[in-house]
Amino acid sequence: MMQAGWRRSGRRFLEQSPALSTLKSIYPLSSSECGVDRPRYGSTVAVKGTGHLIRKGTGGRSSVSGIVATVFGATGFLGRYVVSQLAKMGSQVLVPFRGSEDSHRHLKLMGDLGQIVPMKYNPRDENSIKAVMAKSNVVFNLIGREYETRNYSFEEVNHAMAEQLAVIAKEHGGIMRFVQVSCLGASSSSPSRMLRAKAAAEEAVLRQFPEATIMKPGIMIGTEDRILNRWAQFAKKWSFLPLIGDGSTKIQPVYVIDVAAAIMASLKDDGSSMGKVYELGGPEVYTLHQLAELMYDMIREWPRYVKIPFPIAKAIATPRELLLKKVPFPLPNPDIFNLDQINSFTVDTVVSDNALTFKDLGIVPHKLKGYPVEYLISYRKGGPSFGSTVSERVTAE
Ligand SMILES: NC(=O)c1ccc[n+]([C@@H]2O[C@H](COP(=O)([O-])OP(=O)(O)OC[C@H]3O[C@@H](n4cnc5c(N)ncnc54)[C@H](OP(=O)(O)O)[C@@H]3O)[C@@H](O)[C@H]2O)c1
Repeated sequence: MMQAGWRRSGRRFLEQSPALSTLKSIYPLSSSECGVDRPRYGSTVAVKGTGHLIRKGTGGRSSVSGIVATVFGATGFLGRYVVSQLAKMGSQVLVPFRGSEDSHRHLKLMGDLGQIVPMKYNPRDENSIKAVMAKSNVVFNLIGREYETRNYSFEEVNHAMAEQLAVIAKEHGGIMRFVQVSCLGASSSSPSRMLRAKAAAEEAVLRQFPEATIMKPGIMIGTEDRILNRWAQFAKKWSFLPLIGDGSTKIQPVYVIDVAAAIMASLKDDGSSMGKVYELGGPEVYTLHQLAELMYDMIREWPRYVKIPFPIAKAIATPRELLLKKVPFPLPNPDIFNLDQINSFTVDTVVSDNALTFKDLGIVPHKLKGYPVEYLISYRKGGPSFGSTVSERVTAE
């Protein structure tokens, strides 16, 4: 009884507190759907640090790194590796999520108790974005999507959202680092609409937040990747793999862990990466055909390809794009035949000659062959020693 009374009077005091009303006037956190007013998602992390970061401990998971990071896009492929590396050095990580509770549950286990704080937000509600950023001193934007849906265009997801985050981070005043994840090949002259939107986002982020760091990874490879997994699934199901174009397009795929490490390196430096753009390609350039060979080698199946010339690949992919906004129901997400990705494959995408790269961040990226693609053994139908690779089958003569 006594305790409940104290709690009630405490809450009344807080509601009337001039400090809280000043804070609320800066960050109107009043959405009943999202934000701190919703007690379930209310964060209890330390207040934002505008000066020096407070660091305690030996630098491991149970230390205090002083970083309170909001990771937009944490629920995605790259997100889990970024959150893991942040948590490993004792950072508090705010995880904005928009979908179900399942979308972030794997992240909770990466940090000490209470270090990973999921917060429901709505990317179209400015107040809810302010709420998830309110207590942080570092912001990462990993939001991106390689296809359009009925609800979201390329421009909104890949450009407008990034710009909005940069504006809010600037207004916040206490954000010491802002990292925007773009794509290798993003340019205003790209044949891909997504890459043009990403280029516009880079420009907008640097305009709004000139100290931001832009990371431009190549196609990312790792356990949850959306290229080798898809190829392997297709090859298992149909016993062949469609090679878009003639498979000679050059790309520079990169191990996802290296990209996460590059993002971390940009946080730990003396500020030298601020306002810079890094192109993150793996150590080797592959053609699409060579990458497919690597996949077949790992799943130990005999490579069979059907070359699909660009006009035919585009013709297969176009109906979805034409119907997307015309039919009154959602269409399946594109897989291998993604029109925008097919357009991006019409040109080579490799790290440019004078770009800043992994080397400038002190990182040596992994070669893909070996551990980074080992997860593909799960596609071997007879267990790890099933089948034989091309190199094993081809005899000396
Ligand atoms: N994967 C690659 O090979 C690759 C290569 C180069 C660059 N990139 C870039 O790297 C970043 C991370 O890539 P990723 O592979 O981790 O992407 P991902 O797995 O598709 O995850 C994307 C993230 O963005 C969020 N997101 C997507 N649409 C959204 C929307 N409309 N509103 C709010 N959030 C939205 C997703 O949230 P939900 O979980 O709620 O959908 C998810 O957290 C992206 O910017 C991507 O463009 C990726």
